[in-house]
Amino acid sequence: MRIAMIGSGYVGLVSGACFSDFGHDVVCVDKDETKIAALNAGEIPIFEPGLDHLVASNVKAKRLSFTADLASAVRGADAVFIAVGTPSRRGDGYADLSYAYGAAQEIAQAIDGFTVVVNKSTVPVGTGDEVERIIRETNPQAEFAVISNPEFLREGAAIADFKHPDRIVIGGEDERGLEVMREIYRPLFLGGKSPLIEMSRRGAELTKYAGNAFLATKITFINEMADLCEKVGADVRDVARGIGLDNRIGSKFLNAGPGYGGSCFPKDTIALLKTAQDFEAPQRIVEAVVSVNDQRKRAMGRKVIAAAGGDVRGKRVAILGLTFKPNTDDMRDSPSIAIIRALQDAGATIAACDPEGVDQARKVLDDVVFTDDPWEAIEGATAAVIVTEWDAYRALDLRRMREKLAQPVLVDLRNIYDRSAAEAAGLVYHGIGR
Ligand SMILES: NC(=O)c1ccc[n+]([C@@H]2O[C@H](COP(=O)([O-])OP(=O)(O)OC[C@H]3O[C@@H](n4cnc5c(N)ncnc54)[C@H](O)[C@@H]3O)[C@@H](O)[C@H]2O)c1
Repeated sequence: MRIAMIGSGYVGLVSGACFSDFGHDVVCVDKDETKIAALNAGEIPIFEPGLDHLVASNVKAKRLSFTADLASAVRGADAVFIAVGTPSRRGDGYADLSYAYGAAQEIAQAIDGFTVVVNKSTVPVGTGDEVERIIRETNPQAEFAVISNPEFLREGAAIADFKHPDRIVIGGEDERGLEVMREIYRPLFLGGKSPLIEMSRRGAELTKYAGNAFLATKITFINEMADLCEKVGADVRDVARGIGLDNRIGSKFLNAGPGYGGSCFPKDTIALLKTAQDFEAPQRIVEAVVSVNDQRKRAMGRKVIAAAGGDVRGKRVAILGLTFKPNTDDMRDSPSIAIIRALQDAGATIAACDPEGVDQARKVLDDVVFTDDPWEAIEGATAAVIVTEWDAYRALDLRRMREKLAQPVLVDLRNIYDRSAAEAAGLVYHGIGR
């Protein structure tokens, strides 16, 4: 199949590279010409484990190429995937669909022959209808079908997730379009490993939001439970294990922490609330989740201040980990941002490190000293704070940490250290929910 992937970010680039690895001919498009120039020069603009090799081998095999010329990629394609960003619209929290609709208009002008236009971006219910309307209005002669195919990959494990998904969701009513989608995904569901689920286009659009809202709820549930554990003298890790082994609940997304962040959960939960309000079907549980999570991130800043003795004015705080999770360079809505701002508002100076996220972090954080390694950040700090559980921070020499800190305080917002080991090293340990 000939595939055009519009948008070469975290989702478009991974999806395009994986489709080409299955043997499809893929052209990845982006309007950001520097991104395309980098890709054509063999550089990968994002950090995603394994992506460099996957891209290089498929470029070499001439199944994968990159261009800023959308029309040339769309002409002759069997399927055109829209994988552009759908960030929160400034001011009101609705999904900003201007990139998706802009792409639809450009696609319409270039369509030639029957083409399946696939919404892979996360878009509110009804966006497929609007994409269809835009294409028909822009090019009344176009022969096309609009299909929804939400993406469930996780940054940091994106290639494995794309190649071995729990399920593939396809939504649409046009049989010709659905047949093209089955053909594209055939290498995945053959053998029955990854079921391909077909449903209405609106059902597929909502499935993506429902999935993210549910996962955000699970995280927020255990985070609130962690607060209760701290008050009653229980360990949230025991409680999470105790409930997670129940198959009806499942053990994933039950790690208490500083609150969810990232490029999806924050914006998608809010966009779902907006859709729900418009359709007069309020989602009260998700409303509570959004509000609890919002307050939690800044509360983590207060937790650090309390752990450091109540006053951080003029003192240095070491932040280990900036990205919203390990194995990505993505800083979008990372809890580290709210935590650092809360500490800065209280007068602290911040020294921070992250194995991959510093370049992105520089764009969203001011007045932070970025260090190359954790030891430089920790030197002379009044507290060391683990914000992201990168492997590189999981086995730090705690005695060395004690020696370097001005005050022996370790705040472990990811529960990656044992209290007893930290205390044996002379540190005062503060975890989450324990
Ligand atoms: N990042 C994730 O983990 C993830 C997972 C599942 C779903 N999603 C969804 O996938 C979509 C894309 O997310 P992302 O993280 O890849 O975004 P991103 O910001 O990394 O990439 C989007 C790319 O689209 C490009 N673009 C915008 N308009 C364009 C146009 N008209 N023509 C060509 N290129 C255009 C931008 O330049 C950018 O490079 C979003 O809807 C997101 O919610 C993301």
